[in-house]
Amino acid sequence: MNIHFAVVFCVLQLFDGVTRAYAGHASSLKSHYKETPSYAQQVPWTPPEPGGGNGVDSVAGGGGPTGMGDPLLLSPTSSSPTPPSFSTDPPPKCADVTGLSAGQAKLCLLYEEHLASIRYGVQSGLTECRSQFLHRRWNCSMNAENAGTPFLGPDLQTSSREAAFVQAIKSAGVAHAMARACRDGRLNTCSCSRSGRPKELRRDWVWGGCGDNMEYGYKFTKGFLDVKEKEKRWKRGSPEQGRSLMNLHNNEAGRRAVLKKSRVTCKCHGVSGSCSLITCWQQLPSMRELGEYLKEKYEGAIEVRATRRGRLQIRDPRFSLPTASDLVYIDDSPNYCIRNMTAGSIGTHGRECNRTSHGMDGCSLLCCGRGYNTQRLVTREKCECKFHWCCYVQCKTCTRNAEVHTCK
Ligand SMILES: *[C@@H]1O[C@H](CO)[C@@H](O)[C@H](O)[C@H]1NC(C)=O
Ligand SMILES: *[C@@H]1O[C@H](CO)[C@@H](O)[C@H](O)[C@H]1NC(C)=O
Ligand SMILES: *[C@@H]1O[C@H](CO)[C@@H](O)[C@H](O)[C@H]1NC(C)=O
Repeated sequence: MNIHFAVVFCVLQLFDGVTRAYAGHASSLKSHYKETPSYAQQVPWTPPEPGGGNGVDSVAGGGGPTGMGDPLLLSPTSSSPTPPSFSTDPPPKCADVTGLSAGQAKLCLLYEEHLASIRYGVQSGLTECRSQFLHRRWNCSMNAENAGTPFLGPDLQTSSREAAFVQAIKSAGVAHAMARACRDGRLNTCSCSRSGRPKELRRDWVWGGCGDNMEYGYKFTKGFLDVKEKEKRWKRGSPEQGRSLMNLHNNEAGRRAVLKKSRVTCKCHGVSGSCSLITCWQQLPSMRELGEYLKEKYEGAIEVRATRRGRLQIRDPRFSLPTASDLVYIDDSPNYCIRNMTAGSIGTHGRECNRTSHGMDGCSLLCCGRGYNTQRLVTREKCECKFHWCCYVQCKTCTRNAEVHTCK
């Protein structure tokens, strides 16, 4: 006997109450986010509509709606780019990991089983960075001149807007990976989210299922990434201290992005779309959503400087203070048109550009007015394939002319 049931998602924004860290500061910022995020839940709740737009129809065997165990399987929001995978790489060991600070090395020994998720988080952050900046002058390339890539990925030397983005997306990636690892039972110190039932959730909806543990992801990432910036005693107002404060701020912005884009997700169960049972849980955003959100923050990043008293201050007092979710940077970006390795720019020479586009990926902007070379490529590929009964496939060979333009 087959039981048909409809599965419908409604995805609701939940975390609105977490952006008030700078309230009350006059002109200087201090990196203090002592308060754990408050999961203020002031959302207008709407019921999922049976068979609605996002609906996924599903057929279960005699066992009834068993899909609950793995809500992500059917989720419309889990469309992140294929990130590096967990299972194929052997789990890293603290002894083999390079580039950790003293404090991080200590935490590493205490939480060695977290390493695989941290690495995965950093890598998915950087993967997302590359895809967000694929067609920009700076394409998320980083100077990996130090022998071997450090465990937490390379960093940009210049304290630029780009460095701010890299810091934030890595932090978001790690928080994301930890939250998911908890839910998936990969860690001994955490499991499904234990966050309380949102007050506004309709009474007849069930709060349950195994949610992503954002609270753990947030806290662990804060401890692990921030300790590096806090353990050194830089001279007050020095560029090094400024960078540390900047990193702390952008780490926080990355973690908050994860909270802010998280949602309560609900699912309908019931015979053929009757939606007689609705279950809800906390769900992470995809890395793609995080990347898009942080890219916007990158565009609106706020320039700050380190004061002699060892704080960050906005450069232009006419601008409003950054919130904890905004990105901040200290230095102007290098000219990414020309190669200057000291400044951390590989230049755009050799980059592929789009001749007809007027955007950043267009040849005139990407090549910075230097012009471009055109290469004609003839490719042969199989086409017009037909399946013949029975059983072979017959294809023609087509030649395709393509032009590839690369910056001079
Ligand atoms: C490369 O960057 C450094 C640091 O920003 C700058 O001082 C230098 O003038 C640049 N070199 C060239 C050739 O532009
Ligand atoms: C950026 O562009 C350069 C030049 O085309 C290329 O070699 C490099 O792999 C790209 N980097 C990333 C991270 O995509
Ligand atoms: C080039 O840009 C045009 C206009 O923006 C766009 O329609 C086209 O798809 C782009 N081509 C490639 C290969 O990306």
